Amino acid sequence: MPTRACCCKAQTGWKAYNFTFKEEISIHATILQTIGQTPLISLSHMNRPDEAQVLFKYERYNPGGSIKDRAALYLVETAERKGWLKPGGTLIESSSGNFGISLAMIGAAKGYRVIILVDPKTTPANLALMKGFGAEVIVVTEQDDSGSYHKTRIALANRLASEIPDAYRPDQCFNRLNQEAHYQGTAREIFEQCSGQLGAFITAVSTGGQLGGISRFFKTYAPQVRIVGVDAIGSTIFGGEANAYRTPGVGLSWTPVNLTLSNLDYAYKVSDAAAFATARAFARHEGILMGPSSGACALVALKLARQIDPEQQIVCMVSDGGDRYIHTLFDDEWMHGQGFSTTAGIAEIRNLAYELEPWSESPSECANEKISLIESLNVPQTTLLANAELHIKQMQQEKKAPVSAFLD
Ligand SMILES: Cc1ncc(COP(=O)(O)O)c(C=O)c1O
Repeated sequence: MPTRACCCKAQTGWKAYNFTFKEEISIHATILQTIGQTPLISLSHMNRPDEAQVLFKYERYNPGGSIKDRAALYLVETAERKGWLKPGGTLIESSSGNFGISLAMIGAAKGYRVIILVDPKTTPANLALMKGFGAEVIVVTEQDDSGSYHKTRIALANRLASEIPDAYRPDQCFNRLNQEAHYQGTAREIFEQCSGQLGAFITAVSTGGQLGGISRFFKTYAPQVRIVGVDAIGSTIFGGEANAYRTPGVGLSWTPVNLTLSNLDYAYKVSDAAAFATARAFARHEGILMGPSSGACALVALKLARQIDPEQQIVCMVSDGGDRYIHTLFDDEWMHGQGFSTTAGIAEIRNLAYELEPWSESPSECANEKISLIESLNVPQTTLLANAELHIKQMQQEKKAPVSAFLD
């Protein structure tokens, strides 16, 4: 290990001294190199020793504060390699929160102009973060036929991308590179962090990037792992009745192309009130900050912990931290205004988990695919090309023995 002479500013002024320089914890060339390699965290109070061990994959440690950094970087760097995104180009995306923040950060670090199409539900904290990274923000106020803003935001983003020179649309909703990012990165990371005892994996769904990529990986290399998707009551990713919901980050009014439902074992739908109460309880009783979508997943994890072999582990994705929800989730007045409880204790949350029932034990029977959206929303050519290339790559991978495909 090399030893270097260095200067350190002590109270008395600059002093020279020797210290041991560890190459492996050295300097990152850019903030983007700190994306990924997030920790797995076990619970001290909410999970009992006679239950399966719940481990939180804590994505708040990504520099943009959420799991979305991973897919955003993968999409941008793939587009750079393919020549779809040129130096000084413009990134245009539809996002109400985390993906927009990640892209804004990446644009700032790499020198791209970034335009994010948000909607009136986007919180002031998220708007401030996007703008803080220098992104231009357009608020889309026209609702789509499902009463949400997804389709109107996407359609406008696609139109702008076709009008603005040197623009690239990462297109997290329709571009299957989104799930490939998690297949190549996040899933391998979890696989390597767990000691072969993984019994179940749980995450929330919107674009299906996380769940699509991670479920594909585990169904290939560790098919015994039960895969669980969590949606909001009111969203129709797994079918059902469409209604307004308040849980940010989850939900869509169709089954996203990033998701292969046959790779899922269970689908749960969690109410806003339960998701928010659980997220607050984890801050209060475990010292772990998380957003409401992770609260919903954590509740499902507590349910499964009582059902599966106690020797096994459950990895539950905590997609972001709670600090971007200080004006909603952690604001008592706001919570009361929504009719949500602010005082959930450990026993109350554990009971809530116990009462949960899966929405489906055969998610592939709940498909709500709307292929016609690809045409009606004018999905970009780069997305169609990426999806076609991925399709061929995945077919080639399937033909190989699993271990050699893993090493690709
Ligand atoms: C906090 C949070 N949880 C879960 C999700 C769902 O992830 P995905 O879009 O990969 O399905 C998102 C997506 O925006 C999110 O922001």
